[in-house]
Amino acid sequence: MKIGVPKEIKSQESRVGLTPSGAEMLIRNNHQVFIQSQAGVESGYTDNEYKDVGCTLLSSIEEIYEIGEMIVKVKEPIEPEYSLIQEGQILFTYFHFASSLELTKAMMKSKAICIAYETVEVDGTLPLLIPMSEVAGRMATQQGAKYLEKPQKGMGILIGGIPGVAPVNVLVLGGGVAGTEAAKVAAGMGANVTILDTNLKRIRQLKEFMPANVTCLYSSKTTIESLLPNTQLVIGSVLVKGAKAPKLISKEMLASMPKYSVIVDIAIDQGGCFESSKPTTHQNPIYLEDDIVHYAVTNMPGAVPFTSTQGLTNATFPYALAIANKGWEKACQDDLALKKGLNIINGDIVYPEVADAFSLKLKNI
Ligand SMILES: NC(=O)c1ccc[n+]([C@@H]2O[C@H](COP(=O)([O-])OP(=O)(O)OC[C@H]3O[C@@H](n4cnc5c(N)ncnc54)[C@H](O)[C@@H]3O)[C@@H](O)[C@H]2O)c1
Repeated sequence: MKIGVPKEIKSQESRVGLTPSGAEMLIRNNHQVFIQSQAGVESGYTDNEYKDVGCTLLSSIEEIYEIGEMIVKVKEPIEPEYSLIQEGQILFTYFHFASSLELTKAMMKSKAICIAYETVEVDGTLPLLIPMSEVAGRMATQQGAKYLEKPQKGMGILIGGIPGVAPVNVLVLGGGVAGTEAAKVAAGMGANVTILDTNLKRIRQLKEFMPANVTCLYSSKTTIESLLPNTQLVIGSVLVKGAKAPKLISKEMLASMPKYSVIVDIAIDQGGCFESSKPTTHQNPIYLEDDIVHYAVTNMPGAVPFTSTQGLTNATFPYALAIANKGWEKACQDDLALKKGLNIINGDIVYPEVADAFSLKLKNI
C-alpha cells in the first residue's frame, strides 16, 4: 500500500502520524511510505532519518494526498485539506466528528474511509485515546497551576501552598484516564483534590490507589454546586464515548467560583463540559469570562510533541500496519476493535453517536 504522511497544518500542532521506526516496519512489509518534508522535525525526527529507512520525501501536502492510498496523520483534516481528500482514500487519524458538523459533512462529501483513532475500542477502553489523554491530563494541572499565577491573569495562588498556608482546592470532573493523571499531578504538587465521576466502579478503583489528599465522590449537580465556591481550579475531563461532552457547569454555576480562578476544559475536543467553554489554541490558550480564566486548547498534546508523537504512534502503529497489510475491510473484519474506529465510509455515517449528534442517517454495517 502507498502510505502518505502529511505535515500537520492545524495551529501549533507539531506531532507527526508516523515515526521513522514505524515507517521502516511498513517498508519491511513491502509498503511504500511518502512523507512530507519537515513533517517530523518538531517531534525530533529529521527528513534524513525518514530517508535513511527508505521513505520518499515529498515537498507539498498536495502530493501526499494525491499519492497516498492511506493517509496516516494526527489531527482531523481542516478546511484547506478537504478538497485534497479522494474518494475511497483511507484516513487514519483523530476526527472527533461529534463536535463538528462541518467536518462530518466534508468527510461525507469526500467519500473517504474515515477510521477515527478516538473510537477504536478494546473491552470498553479507547487505546488510541489513552496516551493522549495521559498527556493532556498531566498537562492540565501544569497549565492550571501556571494560569493561577497573577502575571498569567490568575488569582495569584500557589497550587501546593506552603507550610502554614493552604493549598489550592482542585476539582476534577471525570476520573477516567485524563482526570486520573490530572489528579495525580495535582496531588503530587500538594493540592487538595476532589474527583467526581458517575461510575461507581471507577470511584472504588480510584479510592484504592489515590493518595490521602484526593477525595473521590459521586458526581451530581448538587455536589458540584457545593464545591465550586471553594474551588480555585476545575479540570473538565468527562467523556461519553463518541458523543458531545455533557455540560456539567453552567454559566450561572461558574459565577459562584472565586474571582480569577481557573478552569481547564480538556473535554473541549468533544464540545467541552463547561457552558462557557470555547475552543482555544496554543497561540492564544486562555480567555476571561465572568472573571474566570478559561483554558480550552483542543490539541493539548501538540505542545509536547517529543512525548506525544512517541506515545501516540506506540498505540496507533499496530493498527496502521494491519490496515496496510490487509486492506481496511479485512483488517476491520479480523479485529472488532478496529472496526469500532469506522465512522464514515463512502459518504455514509456508520458510527451511531455521530449520526445521533447531528440527527443524520446511520448506515448499519
Ligand atoms: N484537549 C485535548 O487536547 C485532549 C487530549 C486528550 C483527550 N482529550 C479529551 O479528554 C476527555 C477525557 O478523556 P479520557 O480518555 O480521560 O476519557 P475516559 O473515558 O477515560 O474518562 C471519562 C470519565 O468521565 C466519566 N463521566 C462521564 N460522564 C460523567 C458525568 N456526567 N460526570 C462525571 N463523570 C462523568 C466517566 O465515567 C469516565 O470515568 C475526552 O473528551 C477526550 O477527547 C482532550
